[in-house]
Amino acid sequence: MGGILITGASRGLGAALATRYATPGQRLILTARSLKALSDISRVCRDQGAQISPLVLDLDDPDSVDAFHVARRRLDLGAGGLSLVIANAGVFAGRSSFAKLEGVDAQVHQINVNLTANIALLTPIAEEMRKAGRGHIAVVSSLAARQPQPDSPAYSASKAGLSAWAKAMADDLAEAGIHVTDIQPGHIDTAQTEGHQGLLPGLMSAEKAATIIHRGLAQKKRQIAFPLSIAWLIWLTNWLPDPLRRLALKPYRYQVRSPHADLKAESKD
Ligand SMILES: NC(=O)c1ccc[n+]([C@@H]2O[C@H](COP(=O)([O-])OP(=O)(O)OC[C@H]3O[C@@H](n4cnc5c(N)ncnc54)[C@H](OP(=O)(O)O)[C@@H]3O)[C@@H](O)[C@H]2O)c1
Repeated sequence: MGGILITGASRGLGAALATRYATPGQRLILTARSLKALSDISRVCRDQGAQISPLVLDLDDPDSVDAFHVARRRLDLGAGGLSLVIANAGVFAGRSSFAKLEGVDAQVHQINVNLTANIALLTPIAEEMRKAGRGHIAVVSSLAARQPQPDSPAYSASKAGLSAWAKAMADDLAEAGIHVTDIQPGHIDTAQTEGHQGLLPGLMSAEKAATIIHRGLAQKKRQIAFPLSIAWLIWLTNWLPDPLRRLALKPYRYQVRSPHADLKAESKD
């Protein structure tokens, strides 16, 4: 039984995944931007019998990504090494008014964290797995990768890029015995959807999403897209001519009550 790394495990989907994988004896590396943020979930997982290594990882800081690689290589994960990585950490901004576009800082931040930093995180791990001839890498993308959201262009672009990266890596690494899974969830009831002002079709709990992902990863699926009904609807709408597709999207347009707190989310006039 090798170790499992889950990024963004302090809350939401990452915390639900950590609980799902926290079986007796299982080694889990859990990350967030601070150790304090990981204390509650680490306790829950330890109570379930898992061995927890909480590590700091700030995807917005290249030095932190480098320091994380040094720290995780020092961990004793037993003979199985690192068997599964779930790159779950991600950010979403949105805008508070249809009257303005999402600001440049907020858009670049989402690309940096969701796409660029995940490549910096996962490439050295993929190289180690390739040399070992085994391992499984999973990225948490979004259904927004299939149908870009007009109200979150950079988030959609970051997830479409992550899905494309995962597909390319899956094809490259298949012969080396490495599995790469692209996870594309729909709406999940977490901090990310808290400020959403609009419809949230197919909204599900983080626990249910974690169960679907756990099952799909056990089957080494190349792609896990859910809920299936929404994934199929998106597939169908993508066949529509643009004016009809825009009409179909209209009821699902949204604003966000408190866009990314650290950033100037809307564009200047
Ligand atoms: N919720 C949805 O509807 C939905 C739908 C599709 C896809 N997703 C994707 O699912 C994943 C999990 O999202 P969630 O809904 O669980 O959101 P969440 O509750 O906001 O959790 C995000 C996690 O990412 C971590 N994180 C944020 N910024 C980070 C950074 N700069 N460096 C490292 N870690 C960082 C957070 O940890 P700290 O803040 O403690 O550092 C937290 O653990 C994300 O990739 C998201 O895009 C979510």
